[in-house]
Amino acid sequence: MKNMTLQHGLNWAREKLKTSCERPQFEAELLLAHHLGKERTYLILHPDEVVTDAAGFEGLVKRRVDNEPYEYIVGEASFYDIHLKVAPGVLIPRPETELLIDEVANIIEREKITSIAEIGVGSGAISIVLARKFPNLKIIATDICDAPLRIAAENAEAFGVCEQVTLCKSNLLDEVKESVELVVSNPPYIAEDFVLEKNVAAYEPKEALFGGREGDELLRQIILDVKARGVKWLACEMGYDQKEPIQAFVNEVGVKSVRFYKDLAGYDRGFVIEFM
Ligand SMILES: C[S@@+](CC[C@H](N)C(=O)[O-])C[C@H]1O[C@@H](n2cnc3c(N)ncnc32)[C@H](O)[C@@H]1O
Repeated sequence: MKNMTLQHGLNWAREKLKTSCERPQFEAELLLAHHLGKERTYLILHPDEVVTDAAGFEGLVKRRVDNEPYEYIVGEASFYDIHLKVAPGVLIPRPETELLIDEVANIIEREKITSIAEIGVGSGAISIVLARKFPNLKIIATDICDAPLRIAAENAEAFGVCEQVTLCKSNLLDEVKESVELVVSNPPYIAEDFVLEKNVAAYEPKEALFGGREGDELLRQIILDVKARGVKWLACEMGYDQKEPIQAFVNEVGVKSVRFYKDLAGYDRGFVIEFM
C-alpha cells in the first residue's frame, strides 16, 4: 500500500489480524510500533504520518496472520521483570514459569543456597531472573540444543550475569561435574500425541515441548538423576495432569517430602522435592 498513514496502517493490520489474534487492534499497534521503533503512544499522537517501509510492515503482519508467535516476529519476550531475546529454536518463556522462580527463590532465601543447576535453560529465563535476584548465586545451566545455549548466552551477557551463569551443553546434568544444592527445571513435559495450538506446533521447537510418550518421562529421569547425585532440592514445572503419576513415582523412589503447587488458574503446575 503506497503512502499508508499510521492510522490507515493500523486499520489495515487490525482487519488482517482478526482471523489469527484475539486482540487484533492491540497487536496491530504493537507490530506497527515495533516496525517504527517507537512507543504505541506515538501512533496515536501522529495518525497522519506516513509509514516508512510499508512493505516491511505488511510483511510483519503477514507473518502474524500465518500464526507465527508475536515474540518470534519482534525477537523478544517479556518475562518476570525483564525482556529476553528469543528466536526460532528457543521456547518463548511462559508466564506460569514465573511461579517456578518464586518457589525456587523462597528456598534459596530460606536455605541460604549459593549454588544451583538448571536443566533446559532455553532463553535463559529462569537462570537470568534468579541470578538478578541473588547476586551471590552461581548457576550451571544446561541445554541439549545449540540454539537455546546461543540465545541464553546473549541474554546473560545483556543482563550482565555471565559471571554467575555458566552455560553447558549437556543431556540433563550428565556433563555437570560440580556439586550443587538445588536443581530447577522446566523440562519438556507434553505427551507425544497431544494436539498443540497451531502457533505452538508450527513454530516452537519440539525438543522444548515433548517429554516422551506419556510426557513425564524426562521429569522422572530428572528426579532419579538429582537423587542419585545427592542434591537436596529439586523444583520442576509439570503438566496440569501429571500430579498423580509424579506423586506415585516419587513414593516409589522415596524422598523426604514433595509439595505440589498450582498456577493462578488453579491447575497443578509443578512440584518441589526435598530429598532425604
Ligand atoms: C520447556 S523448555 C524451557 C526453557 C526455559 N527454561 C523456560 O522455562 O522458558 C525446555 C528446554 O529443555 C531443553 N531440553 C530438552 N531435552 C533436554 C535434555 N535431555 N537435557 C537438557 N536440556 C533439554 C530444550 O532444548 C528446551 O530448551
